[in-house]
Amino acid sequence: MNTQVFFALTLAFLFAGTHAATVTFTNKCTYTVWPGTLTGDQKPQLSTTGFELRTGANRAVDLPAPWSGRFWGRTGCSDNSGRFTCTTADCGSGQVECNGNGGAPPATLVEITTAANNGQDYYDVSLVDGFNVPMSVSTQGGTGECKTSSCPADVNANCPAELQLKGADGNVIACKSACEQFKEPKYCCTPPNDKPETCPPTNYSMIFENLCPQAYSYAYDDVNSTFTCSNRPSYVITFCP
Ligand SMILES: *[C@@H]1O[C@H](CO)[C@@H](O)[C@H](O)[C@H]1NC(C)=O
Ligand SMILES: *[C@@H]1O[C@H](CO)[C@@H](O)[C@H](O)[C@H]1NC(C)=O
Repeated sequence: MNTQVFFALTLAFLFAGTHAATVTFTNKCTYTVWPGTLTGDQKPQLSTTGFELRTGANRAVDLPAPWSGRFWGRTGCSDNSGRFTCTTADCGSGQVECNGNGGAPPATLVEITTAANNGQDYYDVSLVDGFNVPMSVSTQGGTGECKTSSCPADVNANCPAELQLKGADGNVIACKSACEQFKEPKYCCTPPNDKPETCPPTNYSMIFENLCPQAYSYAYDDVNSTFTCSNRPSYVITFCP
């Protein structure tokens, strides 16, 4: 093997071992969405914590490993004399960037935990904090199950009256979780209902489960909603998949 070929192969291995993973946001909604990102575990935030994503637009963001955090989409946003606010999933920063704040529920969430050393990642779409916009998360380039987790349904259109969040025009703009609305242990899976056996699905979580079986609808949702992928996949998060 000549030195040039050896050098090229070494480089290829180096990049294969440490190749950069990204999370790409795609907006297939007929309306603009303002994604928010939040890093957990008091680690540094990603290169962006919030941005505008118009209909049909894409944006890729580098995703480190190990890393754990969440993504959501704000809707109905506007700038009112220098203060940026959204009618759903607002992060309270007053700016397009969320700067380390999470989104106010109800908000559809994508949660991702990436593993160091090409280990096993976990990810899902979660309706545990309610629903505001249809979302999916799928993987690219990993190995293993790597199933897509998704809540493509318009949960707002099927939201029971007692969980509805309405906009100024009276339209349902988000659907609260029963935990947020009623704050009862049987809906929140908090003590004394803080075990899988003492916190079965409720009539409310079943509404979410039936509309979006490929998403987590409550704290102890079934194992069918466990999504794993190994070897440093990249992710695509789609609004209105
Ligand atoms: C869910 O059950 C509660 C009582 O457990 C009842 O008051 C409520 O109307 C039910 N809601 C729906 C949407 O079925
Ligand atoms: C999990 O998925 C399998 C196969 O898709 C299905 O047969 C089973 O009923 C599901 N279990 C639950 C609890 O939904």
